[in-house]
Amino acid sequence: MSLTIRTGTIIGAFVMALNAGAAMAAGEAERPHAPQEGWSFSGIFGHYEETTLQRGFLVYESVCAGCHALEYVAFRNLADPGGPGFTLDQVRAIAANYRVPAGPDEFGDTLDENGLPFVRPAIPANYFPSPYDNEQQARARNWGALPPDLSLITKARVNGANYLYSLLTGYEDAPEYVEMGENMNYNPFFPGQQIAMVQPLYEGSVEYPDGTEATVEQMAYDVTNFLMWTAEPKLEKRKRMGFQVMAFLFVLAALLYWSYRQVWRDVDH
Ligand code: HEC
Repeated sequence: MSLTIRTGTIIGAFVMALNAGAAMAAGEAERPHAPQEGWSFSGIFGHYEETTLQRGFLVYESVCAGCHALEYVAFRNLADPGGPGFTLDQVRAIAANYRVPAGPDEFGDTLDENGLPFVRPAIPANYFPSPYDNEQQARARNWGALPPDLSLITKARVNGANYLYSLLTGYEDAPEYVEMGENMNYNPFFPGQQIAMVQPLYEGSVEYPDGTEATVEQMAYDVTNFLMWTAEPKLEKRKRMGFQVMAFLFVLAALLYWSYRQVWRDVDH
């Protein structure tokens, strides 16, 4: 466990001390907050940054994919416009690192001599598979908890992006007055404050090829961007369309007003 004390933790602890007591005793989660730099995808001109999405994918692939899946995201989506902007060759290479069920062999068997399903390397058309064969195995390896699919997680939680960012950066030691369940980890942003997921991100958990320093905040920021994109890949298009519609309505309103003045020009009031 990292022993470095982060400013975030100190500020977090201070804020928590302020509103401790009532809220904390009631088991209410702390309000999620946005990262300092804000999100590039919020606001009318919201958009994703390719480099951020690529770094976020690296975090997902190196850390989160060990326990989670993205069952609604196909590898080929990584090359879609508005996404992380990988080339098809890169996508093929990425997919080949994952194993997916291979289907029956020539005798119609789907399981090998050990009772395990046949697998083959994934191709771009496949979806990000779960690292587990089934739910029971997933629970057995996580003290009974089930790591949820992450494709839509930023939409499945209130204030999703801020929540995810706060959750990933919010792990801390449990205060003395909290009695922790077995194998549970303290996180003030998780409802109930006790989460079965161990802290996934530590300083330097990944090495960014672009030289960006892999702080916990940076990795949380990047992977949240990536998981925002998986949940809403058409965000940019939606925002652009919204802006165009508003611009159109503005011009139309001006024209209508002008023609109204023309039509009623000679009428005495
Ligand atoms: C060692 C396994 C493991 C790793 C690695 C892991 N998780 Fe989890 N995750 C879990 C488990 C188990 C749960 C269920 C926790 C619970 O219900 O208490 C979970 C739950 C979650 C949740 C849902 C929280 C909620 O509100 O219900 C999110 C979001 C999440 N993980 C994101 C991530 C991200 C992002 C990463 C990578 C940076 C990651 N996880 C890495 C095991 C893992």
